[in-house]
Amino acid sequence: MEVFESAFRMNSWSSEKSCSGLSVSLVPTMGALHRAHGELIRRAVAENDLTVVSIFVNPTQFGPAEDFKAYPRDFESDRELCEKEGVDVLFSPKISEMYPNGAESGTEVSVKEISSFMCGAHRPGHFDGVATVVAKLFNVVRPSRAYFGLKDYQQFQIIKRLNSDLIFGIEIVGCYTVRESDGLALSSRNRYLDKQQRRQVPYIYKALLKAAEQIKNGETDGTKISFFLKEFINKHIDGCKIDYAGAYHAQRLHPLKKVEGEVVLAAAVWVGRARLIDNLAVQKK
Ligand code: PAJ
Repeated sequence: MEVFESAFRMNSWSSEKSCSGLSVSLVPTMGALHRAHGELIRRAVAENDLTVVSIFVNPTQFGPAEDFKAYPRDFESDRELCEKEGVDVLFSPKISEMYPNGAESGTEVSVKEISSFMCGAHRPGHFDGVATVVAKLFNVVRPSRAYFGLKDYQQFQIIKRLNSDLIFGIEIVGCYTVRESDGLALSSRNRYLDKQQRRQVPYIYKALLKAAEQIKNGETDGTKISFFLKEFINKHIDGCKIDYAGAYHAQRLHPLKKVEGEVVLAAAVWVGRARLIDNLAVQKK
């Protein structure tokens, strides 16, 4: 496995491989790799000739009060995991490689409307940071396929739209959410939880499952669904703070008053220092 820090070297390698007719895939990450990242990587390796994993803790997607400095970094164990999974290149650029003219000014990619709902309403600028860095990674690596987790549902939809709007022509592959045995979605931020919090947080997914059942049994009132989710989560997780919980349009992501068509149930909940997100897709006829 090669390790590149230079965007120029990364791009030259990728261009050469693509010109020889090999398919190059990309799995963008911020490192601190866990089993869910492993699943994305395994799938990319299985479906493509070559796989690049990027590790870059992107400063522009963190708000001023967020955990950019504290975000877990563990390059050696990340490197081992990638090597073990058969990754061809680990791309781990410095900030100056990805933001050669500084991150404070200049070009930014913003995917309007769908970035404004759900997490976008609570993390101003977050998705502009994500869209900008992913567009940069797409330009540097020029993959034929890129792999993203559906756990970050809004991020996935934004990247699909960005890929289409900017005519990248990349196949964007969505991978199912990987969970612990009690339902908690794997996240690098789960390590911020203490024992009691860890015991209680699976109730976020349980709430989504219960709301999905209500919808299948005929509930169509989005306000009631949102109310139920909030009440259930508040009841089972001590001292949590809910950013949002409700039923959203599966592509456009706005909150639904009437639950119909393709729907995604989603929630974002602060538990201590951890902000946890989860979602569940529901088909309502
Ligand atoms: P990061 O949080 O490291 O996640 C990297 C990829 O792993 C994302 O596509 C994310 O959706 C996926 N992932 C994380 N936990 C998952 C789980 N439990 N199940 C399935 N997939 C999961 O997301 C980012 O990094 C960044 O925003 C990035 C796209 C790299 C841009 O900086």
